[in-house]
Amino acid sequence: MRLRSLLFVPGDSEHKFAKASGIGADALILDLEDAVAPPRKALAREMVKNLLGGPARDWAFLVRINPLGSELTLEDLAAVVRPGLDGILIPKVNGTQDIELISNYVDVLEVATGVTPGHVKLLVVATETPAAMIGFASYATPSRRLVAMTWGAEDLGAALGALSNKEADGSWTFPYQVARAQCLFAAGAAEVMALDTLYVDFKDEKGLAESCRIARRDGFVGKIAIHPAQVATINQCFTPSETDLAHARRVVAAFAAQPDAGTLGIDGKMYDMPHLIAAKRALASVGEDVT
Ligand code: COA
Ligand code: MG
Repeated sequence: MRLRSLLFVPGDSEHKFAKASGIGADALILDLEDAVAPPRKALAREMVKNLLGGPARDWAFLVRINPLGSELTLEDLAAVVRPGLDGILIPKVNGTQDIELISNYVDVLEVATGVTPGHVKLLVVATETPAAMIGFASYATPSRRLVAMTWGAEDLGAALGALSNKEADGSWTFPYQVARAQCLFAAGAAEVMALDTLYVDFKDEKGLAESCRIARRDGFVGKIAIHPAQVATINQCFTPSETDLAHARRVVAAFAAQPDAGTLGIDGKMYDMPHLIAAKRALASVGEDVT
């Protein structure tokens, strides 16, 4: 599953779903959680269930369910685990025990609805509760079905009673920088994709591009979108440029030509194993097999 851009669509808006379908996002996340008001939860669940039966698509169909403990989780899962669903985004996870639990439920529902066992992947919002922030060590043992982790500052701030999560210049305050970094480390340990959190100011294209650049620099491979206008910028940023790819091919070829070299020089710069890994990763991200 390639996940550069993941566009959130409120689960109770057919208008937005129709608008989002052809926009070029790698995934749509139909939301049953925070974007849907309590009186519309049941309606949204039914709408998303019906949309899953639609025609074949070239993007991943993901659903954000309501969190464990909300008393909506089982009904959400029972409605959406069916043919057409590619993955579930679990909000407010406290650690891998929650992933295991959901995974077990999905095991049964896949069999019941005729979905290929193991097809439905799991993604988590890994930093939304204080308990999650002290439970990251559990990710060192990879969880089955888990393919990606993202992070969020709003719910964590609310749980902590923070007055704000931003400095005056718009950067994250320290606790949320920790959350962001922990998400990166945990995703690395679990060997899954790290996805950056959303950029709320959807009219600020320049700010979005800069936040994508910083995220990609640090190791995130994709980013959540909340508005169709954000998708193209995100896709572009998380796709290696032709120059990046040409350079990566050169690095791979140089090491292939000297199988006994652990380190070598290209254009007057030292290259060793981390550079080779990065080059192979860039090529793999566009489907070039270099193993
Ligand atoms: N998916 C699909 N279509 C969307 C969309 C989305 N996420 N966000 C906006 N649109 C549509 C609007 O319906 C509108 O369509 P129209 O021109 O046919 O009426 C068009 O894009 C332009 O929207 P705009 O007027 O710029 O924004 P808005 O004020 O209508 O909506 C939000 C702003 C934030 C409410 C909206 O972007 C949204 O719902 N985002 C997703 C929120 C969400 O799911 N949050 C949960 C995770 S945090
Ligand atoms: Mg939330």
